[in-house]
Amino acid sequence: MSRQTVIILDFGGQYNQLIARRVRECGVYCELLPWTTPLEQIKAKEPICIIFTGGPNSVYAPDAPRVDPAIFTWGVPILGICYGCQLMAHSLGGRVVPATSAAAREYGKTETVFDTGCRLFRNLPEESVTWMSHGDYLEKVPEGFRLTAHTTACPTAAIADESRGFYGVQFHPEVNHTQFGKEMLHRFLYEVCGARGDWSMGDFCRLTVAALREEIGGGKVLLALSGGVDSSVLAALLAEAVGSQLTCVFVDHGLMRKNEGDEVQAAFAKWDVNFIRVNAEERFLTALAGVTEPERKRKIIGEEFIRVFEAEGKKIGSVDFLAQGTIYPDVIESGAGAAAVIKSHHNVGGLPDFVDFKEIIEPLRLLFKDEVRQLGRELGLPEYLVTRQPFPGPGLALRVIGEITKEKLDIVREADFIFRDEAARAGLAGSMSQYFAALTNMRSVGVMGDGRTYDYAVALRAVSTEDFMTADWVRLPYDLLDRVSVRIVNEVKGVNRVLYDITSKPPATVEYE
Ligand code: XMP
Repeated sequence: MSRQTVIILDFGGQYNQLIARRVRECGVYCELLPWTTPLEQIKAKEPICIIFTGGPNSVYAPDAPRVDPAIFTWGVPILGICYGCQLMAHSLGGRVVPATSAAAREYGKTETVFDTGCRLFRNLPEESVTWMSHGDYLEKVPEGFRLTAHTTACPTAAIADESRGFYGVQFHPEVNHTQFGKEMLHRFLYEVCGARGDWSMGDFCRLTVAALREEIGGGKVLLALSGGVDSSVLAALLAEAVGSQLTCVFVDHGLMRKNEGDEVQAAFAKWDVNFIRVNAEERFLTALAGVTEPERKRKIIGEEFIRVFEAEGKKIGSVDFLAQGTIYPDVIESGAGAAAVIKSHHNVGGLPDFVDFKEIIEPLRLLFKDEVRQLGRELGLPEYLVTRQPFPGPGLALRVIGEITKEKLDIVREADFIFRDEAARAGLAGSMSQYFAALTNMRSVGVMGDGRTYDYAVALRAVSTEDFMTADWVRLPYDLLDRVSVRIVNEVKGVNRVLYDITSKPPATVEYE
């Protein structure tokens, strides 16, 4: 039996990849195709159904995206979301008009009442919250359809012609704010379209490996491996696909966390790839000696990094492909102004100018972070790598306030290790977006045994955040903080005080420098 396919027809909505991700979460393979794809091409894929996405247009605009009307007589079920719902209604004789009152334009969380006799909503509560984002409004329902949901402002929040398997929802079931959105998509796929759930991340892995082999052929691939989740999973994927044609350059700048360099190297030992670990600690520390200004530190690290990578690139000579661990949120962010903050950071994304290559490959660009982690597991990467929290390119340099020395780095490395160890023992590691120890530039008086000490204060930081643009500090249990504090002052030489940072972002940032 061949694998079932869902076609998502893309009308330019902002959540389209999220629809694809939800379908994958339901265990069904899907492809996102532009709305201009000829019907014959869609038919050739033998989909079990089509999903029309949202989009920024109005269906009554002269140049609005359309579909071949034959799509409605072909006999496959269709789910239209937002613009997709309006387009289906418009194409089948309904009427879509601009919402005349501000109240009828709905944006955001909206109480919605459902007809639970409809297959999409069966066994779900009669009332729940949906996420709306529309300025047009379906005034007349096409023949054969009935209303299956309404809100106070909008009598046509959902429509259905169940005999043909046509469903339209004005709201967005794919976003988390729609309380039972995932269940509705699941019902559409399984109860309306007969999905079997025959797709998994293992499948994605096999398909991607096969596609990469074909694309790369006998070519050489270069990858700057940072040890972060994305670049590690990408390295594993390429290692699986092309083995020794891949060269990973891992620059250990001496600003890594405890054991990190060895862990990254060990994770790739099972593959036959060219793994180049550049131990550049001395070079970085020499360049950073005496520098206290945060931006200057970042610049030096960025420049040194590029130089080291460039030197390695020269040794390798020309390569055919430069692989990058871009993931879907990066793709979205690069289009949005807000992303500028992250992009100005130093990471390996800025390398292509310095390396002689023919093409860039980005096999993870359609995946969300947790899907990348899942893929990593599929490839057999160790759990500590796959679940690793974000770690900035300039590493511990951002967590040592003021001048960086080997001694200070060792202190922060040990303290950070203890914090991570205790958080893991408490079962709380996964509940924080990012957490670490930083070394303040402050020394203070303490007493240990019978003697006076004059040592550093270590700050602990733990934040929770959706997007790292804003963040809140985590209310960690006092007894965990106590254990971490006791262990740090006992086990880490040079520290006599532990502080917990209770500042959110803004006004503070996540990192210290
Ligand atoms: P801030 O300190 O800006 O951190 O609130 C937000 C997120 O970005 C990470 N970060 C960086 N990541 N290169 C990176 O790759 C950098 O230069 C950099 N600076 C901060 C930080 O760890 C947090 O996740």
